[in-house]
Amino acid sequence: MAQLWGGRFTKETDQLVYNFNASISFDKKLYRQDIEGSIAHVVMLAKQGILTTEEKDAVIKGLTSIREELEDGTLEITEEYEDIHSFVEAKLIERVGEAGKKLHTGRSRNDQVALDMRLYTRAEILEIDLLLKDLLKELLSLMENNLETYMPGFTHLQKAQPVTLAHHLGAYFEMFKRDRERLKDIYSRMNYCPLGAGALAGTTYPLDRNYTASLLGFEGPTLNSMDSVSDRDYLIEFLAAMSTIMMHLSRFCEEIILWNSNEYRFIELDDTYSTGSSIMPQKKNPDIAELVRGKTGRVYGTLVSLLTTMKGIPLAYNKDMQEDKELTFDAIDTVKGCLALFTGMLKTTKFNKEIMAKSAMNGFTNATDAADYLVGKGVPFRDAHGIIGKLVLYCIEKQTGIENLTLEELKAVSPVFEADVYEAVSLKTCVEKRLTLGAPGSEAMKEVIGLGKKYLESEWAKTSDSICF
Ligand code: ARG
Repeated sequence: MAQLWGGRFTKETDQLVYNFNASISFDKKLYRQDIEGSIAHVVMLAKQGILTTEEKDAVIKGLTSIREELEDGTLEITEEYEDIHSFVEAKLIERVGEAGKKLHTGRSRNDQVALDMRLYTRAEILEIDLLLKDLLKELLSLMENNLETYMPGFTHLQKAQPVTLAHHLGAYFEMFKRDRERLKDIYSRMNYCPLGAGALAGTTYPLDRNYTASLLGFEGPTLNSMDSVSDRDYLIEFLAAMSTIMMHLSRFCEEIILWNSNEYRFIELDDTYSTGSSIMPQKKNPDIAELVRGKTGRVYGTLVSLLTTMKGIPLAYNKDMQEDKELTFDAIDTVKGCLALFTGMLKTTKFNKEIMAKSAMNGFTNATDAADYLVGKGVPFRDAHGIIGKLVLYCIEKQTGIENLTLEELKAVSPVFEADVYEAVSLKTCVEKRLTLGAPGSEAMKEVIGLGKKYLESEWAKTSDSICF
């Protein structure tokens, strides 16, 4: 046991208590951020005359060597330390002696951990954003290539009206675009530096919090020291955004599973993204899509857990907050893994265009257009709806589609029908006539794809970067 706070104690901590309390097994992930924050802190301390230049240089040298050795594997994080902060500080003192003991001047682990977690989450937001961008690029290229790949659009999982694959995928393009917007918002809201808040009430040293914040690439320092050490709102909204990404992926996975089923056969997943059965030789299962769908529950769990953890905590820091780490790390790892795998799966998926078009042709997806045809001939819509309803009933009995009826059969239901009805209810017409912005007609889709391209070209102008890395 190597603790930072032994002075006041006369007995050793019970081993079980120590293990229960310790966080090093998971917060070791924060070593880079911890070192980065310490470097910025010490640079500021020296600027303020709280540490000498020599002390600052010695500390930076020590911290940098710790980081390098952790990275090349010559130094290992061992669990005899309570947390990553204790580990780094102990190693620093081992290496640079007295100067190392001054690192923690004007700082508490409470503002230190608040900083580390913000730095970690901030960097991960950018990585997740890149993965979302890769997925959006793949979706846009599929959209461009499938403007005339017809398929049924569904409501209530019943065939409704024909759309195109481009249009269907375009719905997901919008969802993942919003997910990126959410990340961007969260990034800008959380980008304030808590360091200098101390344990809860600031410190008596003349710290320059603006300077530390700018060294670490933050917009500025946080404005209330109690809030600084006990705010986890940004993690809650981050986990909500992670949950929303998973919800979108999960809906998409559900469709992929349906489309890949023997009944639909709209798509065929690549062998590299499918799995077999140990007993049924014919099986090719969509396990990856199912796992992504399944892991959605796990990410939702992190959000609900953290919300619940935070709900009864009085100001300011309380140890409950240590629970934020494993939840957030798990959500990040899960979302990143799912996004990367999902994009790979999509890239290798084969779309059975003929089967999709055939499916769009049966199931009366052109019934609305047939009614609209009658409206064009002067029939009030409500009457047209009734006429086509009768026609559908007739077709169901005959096991055929409206487009396959003879003109005589059509005229028997309504004399208004003419030979031009066949063109009006063809699959192509049904899709191509839908030209309102956001509709599946290829001209309307081209406009949206153009906007999508522009959107992907415009980079998210990240406001900050830290100087230390
Ligand atoms: N491991 C702690 C956490 O993650 C670090 C802060 C400890 N502060 C304290 N006063 N015990 O929250």
